[in-house]
Amino acid sequence: MKVLVILLAVLCLAAGGAAVFVLSGSYNIAANDPHWPLTEWFLGVVRERSISAHSKGISIVPAKDSRVLIINLGVSNYHEMCRLCHSAPGYPRSEVARGLYPAPPDFTSKDFKRRKDAEVYWIVKNGIKMTGMAAFGATHSEEELWGIVFFTQLLGGLTPEEYTAMVKAAGLQKKEDHHH
Ligand code: HEC
Repeated sequence: MKVLVILLAVLCLAAGGAAVFVLSGSYNIAANDPHWPLTEWFLGVVRERSISAHSKGISIVPAKDSRVLIINLGVSNYHEMCRLCHSAPGYPRSEVARGLYPAPPDFTSKDFKRRKDAEVYWIVKNGIKMTGMAAFGATHSEEELWGIVFFTQLLGGLTPEEYTAMVKAAGLQKKEDHHH
């Protein structure tokens, strides 16, 4: 009984302390103030377990031979919507990408570890909470989503010239990054 009372008192104190900490505004929510390594590790485990569990059972909808057709959709969508955060061949890391926390991975980097198609599809469709990663499922067709997935998987192997040619073939202008 005594142990229980002590335990309850400790719990109340901890909850009170947490409430004071939160309500006082002491926690620094700034994007340029990184998490503790332990928090970072914990959030990483949560993210990886969640993506793996939620993407299980997703089968690759478009047949392999229709990939060529939908990759065009992927190129235009990627160039317009993803490049700013995830870079592209010939487009180095943008100012937005450098300011985001967590940082969006650079898909053109040699160090980027490519995920399975199903995982990329799930992420692009549903986004990732409390990061800059948006959910594109509500605004894009299945074909567009898969086109984006297949194109992002190709990115690491493209030269800037090849990328530009694909952007032109998809009917887009090559846009220059904004400098100031
Ligand atoms: C405003 C910036 C922003 C835009 C635009 C954006 N993303 Fe992201 N994306 C992020 C961030 C930030 C993360 C990292 C989230 C994390 O670490 O949990 C991310 C993560 C991802 C991942 C997981 C990477 C990995 O393997 O860990 C994929 C895949 C992805 N984005 C694809 C896309 C695609 C495709 C588009 C365009 C349709 C896109 N993103 C647009 C910010 C963005």
